Amino acid sequence: MKKYTSIKDVISLPILVEEAIALKKNPFAFEQLGKRKVLGMLFFNPSLRTRLSTQKAALNLGMDVIVMNISNDGWVLEFEDGAVMENNGAEHVKEAAQVISQYCDVLAIRAFAELKNREEDYAEKVISSFVKFATVPVISLESATGHPLQALADAITIKEFQQKERPKVVLSWAPHPRALPQAVANSFVEFIKNTYAELVVTHPKGYELNNEIMEGVPVEYDQNKAFADADFIYAKNWSSYTEYGKILSTDKNWIITNAKMQLTNSAKFMHCLPVRRNVVVADEVLDSENSIVIPQANNRTYAAQIVLKKILENA
Ligand code: CP
Repeated sequence: MKKYTSIKDVISLPILVEEAIALKKNPFAFEQLGKRKVLGMLFFNPSLRTRLSTQKAALNLGMDVIVMNISNDGWVLEFEDGAVMENNGAEHVKEAAQVISQYCDVLAIRAFAELKNREEDYAEKVISSFVKFATVPVISLESATGHPLQALADAITIKEFQQKERPKVVLSWAPHPRALPQAVANSFVEFIKNTYAELVVTHPKGYELNNEIMEGVPVEYDQNKAFADADFIYAKNWSSYTEYGKILSTDKNWIITNAKMQLTNSAKFMHCLPVRRNVVVADEVLDSENSIVIPQANNRTYAAQIVLKKILENA
């Protein structure tokens, strides 16, 4: 693997999932692989799980890790080619990416959507500039439009908990007081489409995701109908793609409650976290036996570790 910024970097998702599950059983088996190799992590946005699980994954492989909260501690970066840098930008990504590449063997970056301009966000200015100018492999720790490490952890979790060959997996929009990116939902769809699961997406009208990503995936606007016979419910809020970045609904009827879960085939409840309790999902669901959000978060380590392993092996 030469980089990991989307599903396009994965040759076979089912095989990668199996390899991650095997690695989880013996996480220190490759602790020599990363010896004297450095993972550099740049955060333009906050994180709990991504930051800690990716560090742990690197440590399991014997790597050293350097982390920078670049928005707070670094120079303001300029991304425009040919920019006359008279304004905020103090350092161009051309130099920054090459300089950082001299300090690390793998570079991982988190840079969220700004949700102001869809074309700009979907052009992936930050991550694609680092891919272009860095001289080491780049990993996405969540970009403007995708969260591929989260989606890999989600695929691992579904594989571990599924009780049938083709489980029904429902991605359900849920309300949220703030406008959130589509990144987690986009990657979840892209990844789960590449498994043996039956995927259904449910959301209020106006929350349709990018057509290209949704190709071949049914949308059911009636959440109750979508939940019928589901084996997994994956809750996530996202802001509108069509009316870009807008909150079109805060309809509390979309909160995941016990009553909703009772429509399912005793489904497991998933969420990428962090989650707002009793806004996105009721306590009764999150604290229930069917909630698998904690083992799901644990799998972030093994998702990151299998990706780092493949990058270190260039396999
Ligand atoms: N799910 C996830 O990416 O969590 P963090 O934002 O805390 O890293």
